[in-house]
Amino acid sequence: MVRPKLIVANWKMNLTTHQGSLLLHTLAADTPVHRDVEVVIAPSTLMLQSLSLQVNRRQFKLAVQNLYWRDEGAFTGEVSAAQLRGIADYAIIGHSERRHVFGETDKDIRAKVQAAIRNDIKPILCVGETAAERSDGETSHVIHDQISGGLANLTSDEMKDVTIAYEPVWAIGSGQAASPHDVEQVVKIIRSQVTHLYGKSASEALRVVYGGSVSAQSTADFLGTRGVDGLLVGGASLKAHEFGEIIAKAHKAS
Ligand code: PGA
Repeated sequence: MVRPKLIVANWKMNLTTHQGSLLLHTLAADTPVHRDVEVVIAPSTLMLQSLSLQVNRRQFKLAVQNLYWRDEGAFTGEVSAAQLRGIADYAIIGHSERRHVFGETDKDIRAKVQAAIRNDIKPILCVGETAAERSDGETSHVIHDQISGGLANLTSDEMKDVTIAYEPVWAIGSGQAASPHDVEQVVKIIRSQVTHLYGKSASEALRVVYGGSVSAQSTADFLGTRGVDGLLVGGASLKAHEFGEIIAKAHKAS
């Protein structure tokens, strides 16, 4: 089954609204629209509304980096999926920084995945082991728990809108990406678990992307790795030239 590539720029808590707008402007000028590559920009929530007016959605989609699972109410400081409906096409959910810096649990993450789907926002569920879990041989166990915890109670129809990002915690922002061989092994585990939970066709349709110190230089290797359908890019997505190169290589790899 041919799955269109998905390249996601995670800007994290970087750039002012003005800088974000300029970066989008530069990317837009330099990026041809490729039908085989879907490019998604995830700016800070603050910028989403203004960038949504600026962006050409045939060229780039928008993602929110986090959301709250209740639709409305007394939840000071939070932004709900209902408020993001029509603005964000995708939502990054359960990023390792949310899990490890802000203490999100699989239960929170599951509620957020469901809130996103309820509001027509496609969830990108992030999973990944820490360095200690990897060295203790716990990787497969951790991934299993994060997937069944994050995706419980979805229908196989709802699964069609889900992407899974494999992001080993130790590879994020460290300059030390996982090896394509290790990524291939974990992606296999992810797909076999989705097959187990939602059936073969859901697993064949599922896009699985890799994230963690991706650069323009490593793009071709990861996209050439069996089962990998795209990339979640942090640091390198803040540099217009490098991110443009990543998109161009993704098109070549398709
Ligand atoms: P990085 O971040 O590319 O800077 O390692 C990836 C991510 O956190 O999504």
